Amino acid sequence: MDLVDIDDLAPGELHAVLDEADRLRTASETSSPTKPLRDQTLAMIFEKPSTRTRVSFETGMTQLGGHAVFLGPDDIHLGHGEPLRDTARVLSRYVDFITARVFDHADVVELAEYATVPVINGLSDQAHPCQTLGDLLTIRDRFGTLDVDVAWVGDGNNVSQSLALGAAMTDLELTVATPSGYEIDDSVRERAVEMGAPPTETTDPGSALTGADVVYTDIWVSMGEEDRRAEKLQAFEGFQVTRAVLGDRPLMHCLPAHRGEEVTDAVMEGDHLAWDQAENRMHAQKGLLVWLAGAAGA
Ligand code: CP
Ligand code: NVA
Repeated sequence: MDLVDIDDLAPGELHAVLDEADRLRTASETSSPTKPLRDQTLAMIFEKPSTRTRVSFETGMTQLGGHAVFLGPDDIHLGHGEPLRDTARVLSRYVDFITARVFDHADVVELAEYATVPVINGLSDQAHPCQTLGDLLTIRDRFGTLDVDVAWVGDGNNVSQSLALGAAMTDLELTVATPSGYEIDDSVRERAVEMGAPPTETTDPGSALTGADVVYTDIWVSMGEEDRRAEKLQAFEGFQVTRAVLGDRPLMHCLPAHRGEEVTDAVMEGDHLAWDQAENRMHAQKGLLVWLAGAAGA
């Protein structure tokens, strides 16, 4: 089983992963932690930079008794002549899991097709399912339930798309406010519709905030979009999350934050959920790895 996007999990499996994350977190805080992935290895292919995804996976594997191998753009033959499918086949002979951060979503799909071990999407242009796992854990921690109204104010790409699917799989109520032309993809909306709970969509950030318990934003110029910077800064005018926009609601941000663009410095220096989200990436991914290994509850 792979996690190319969050809806590769059935809703019950998603809850099981979150519960396992909770269980491992509690075990690591209150007793001598178990090492259910002793001697197991995670290969981490990264085509783009990362702070949270890389370090949370690597640390998580260490805590679980396993090991992680970081494979950056110049570390392996991938991108230098060896096809992705051959990389997938060979890595599968060595390691127990592969995570991959890629520019093109089709690449993580191909990796999953040819690997014989679980492939976990560590961010593509289309999806960020590991972020959604950490976000759902954070919301559950804060509110004690996923029946929470979240206003997304920002771009309709990877982070918001996986969140929209995660919301459709749970009780989360999501409103997505994007500038016109930056909405979530039709294919993502259709999958959410098929699950019976598409997000509410608007191009008016103010209307998204009505009734929201939490406000969530992401950078406007995603990795790989640097040549679209001028166009995007103009398009996202009016979408900045300020203290006035936020009011007394908590902010969620997947990070990294670009202060002065999607969020102000004052908001980032205030009280928000972004550091908890970052920590929960590790707990959620530990839950996922142990669940994928069939070692949950061990
Ligand atoms: N949120 C997130 O994935 O952060 P990194 O780019 O630092 O991994
Ligand atoms: N949308 C951002 C998310 C970073 C975690 C990007 O793709 O760069």
